[in-house]
Amino acid sequence: MDKGKLVLEAIEARKKAYAPYSKFLVGSALLCADGTIYKGGNIENASYSLTCCAERTAIFNAINDGKRKFTAIAIVAGFEDGRDHDKISTSCGACRQVMREFCDPGSFVVLFAPLSNPEEITELLLDELIPHSFGPDDL
Ligand code: THU
Repeated sequence: MDKGKLVLEAIEARKKAYAPYSKFLVGSALLCADGTIYKGGNIENASYSLTCCAERTAIFNAINDGKRKFTAIAIVAGFEDGRDHDKISTSCGACRQVMREFCDPGSFVVLFAPLSNPEEITELLLDELIPHSFGPDDL
C-alpha cells in the first residue's frame, strides 16, 4: 500500500469539501481491496446536523458503487485560513462506527497526516480507534 499516495489523494479530496459554516475542510481517500480509491470531502448543511463528514462521504460513495472490501483510509483536515494545518484531526465517533460496519477492525488502517507536512503520517488500526466495538457480527 502506498500510504503517501493515499494521503495526497485525501489532500485532493479536501479541495472539493463544502464547509461554508465551519470553514473546516476535511478530505479523505479510501483504498478498496481491489486497489481503487474513492475520495470524499465533508459536506455541510444550513441545518447543521445534516452535515456529512469526509470519511462517510468516501465510504458511502464506494458502497454505492458496489465496493465492499476496504484496506485503508487517509484523512487530512484544517481550516480554510490555514489554521490547524500543522495538526492531525482524528475521525468522529459516527465515522468510526461507519468504518466498523464495512471494515475489519484488526486490519483496516486509518492514516492521519497534517496538511503542512503530509509525510508525517500517524497510522492506527480501526480497532485502536474504536475498541470494544459493536458491529455486524454482533447481530
Ligand atoms: N468532520 C469531518 O469531515 N470528519 C470528522 O471525522 C470530523 C468532522 C467535519 C464535519 C464538519 O463539516 C467539520 O468537520 C467541523 O466539524
